[in-house]
Amino acid sequence: MSLTELMTTYQQRVNTALDSCLPAPTIQPTRLHEAMRYAVLNGGKRIRPLLVYLAGRALDVDERILDRAACAVELIHAYSLIHDDLPAMDNDDLRRGLPTCHKAFDEATAILAADALQTLAFYVLSQEVDWPITDQQRLAIINTLALASGSRGMVGGQALDMVATGQTLTVAELENLHIHKTGALIRASVKMGVLSCSRLDDQILEQFDHYAKCIGLAFQIQDDILDVEGQTEVLGKPQGSDLVQEKATYPAILGLREAKKLAQELVEEAIESLVDFDTQVEPLRWLANYIITRNC
Ligand code: IPE
Ligand code: IPE
Ligand code: MG
Ligand code: MG
Ligand code: MG
Repeated sequence: MSLTELMTTYQQRVNTALDSCLPAPTIQPTRLHEAMRYAVLNGGKRIRPLLVYLAGRALDVDERILDRAACAVELIHAYSLIHDDLPAMDNDDLRRGLPTCHKAFDEATAILAADALQTLAFYVLSQEVDWPITDQQRLAIINTLALASGSRGMVGGQALDMVATGQTLTVAELENLHIHKTGALIRASVKMGVLSCSRLDDQILEQFDHYAKCIGLAFQIQDDILDVEGQTEVLGKPQGSDLVQEKATYPAILGLREAKKLAQELVEEAIESLVDFDTQVEPLRWLANYIITRNC
């Protein structure tokens, strides 16, 4: 299967799983549940679930074992986007080609929908259901996602992003910001895929983690580049928003050419960390390249 085919397959797979774990829109409070479903089910590349599936697949983990972690990370990501778009943060009106959650509903509903998506992620992972992994694996997966989502991960990065707005950061400071706000969830996605494998090997974990760390940073650099070079209609979110908001970005600090060069180097480093593996990691190599060639 090509990367495009794999993406389509896993997008459909995680969409079905997300649809069934989200409360029906007819359940009270209906407006809250509608907002949750609106923010999760309307598009998105599903890169984080894809990473869970591809990392797990590379280690021969059954897809059915990977669905929960794939869903959980996308629920956290969707919540982070709702908050990211709020007037108090990036103040954006368009997301995935539609009005942002607080525009389609209202600010209070958007905040609450995001809160509920966050707890739903951990409900999905801790639910008493048939999930053929050990309790130790399940705990490690929950722990990984919790750490990556909070103040020492994505939320910490978002806090750094807010403070950095309007400031000029050093490259090291910006790298730290990006590694947290975006890198942490991408890294957690790969790690949860690896942790789903019953034969856990520290060296494999380390090699996959290095891959994930590199692509996580490259992903946000490309996101910054697309804010400069992309088109709103293709991105599904407002091009030029970073400039308006005076965000700390790689193009702002290094210039477009250097930012692109760095993203390319990170992708090469990511691919290099998987040299010990054979064809089973090929889709992860394709995905690394996709991250810096994508146009949305
Ligand atoms: C956007 O993430 C926010 C960042 C962390 C850069 P994505 O580019 O993965 O957004 P969707 O999920 O595809 O909409
Ligand atoms: C968002 O970064 C990171 C998180 C949501 C955690 P951005 O603010 O650059 O994401 P976009 O460009 O709005 O998608
Ligand atoms: Mg932001
Ligand atoms: Mg934003
Ligand atoms: Mg951005």
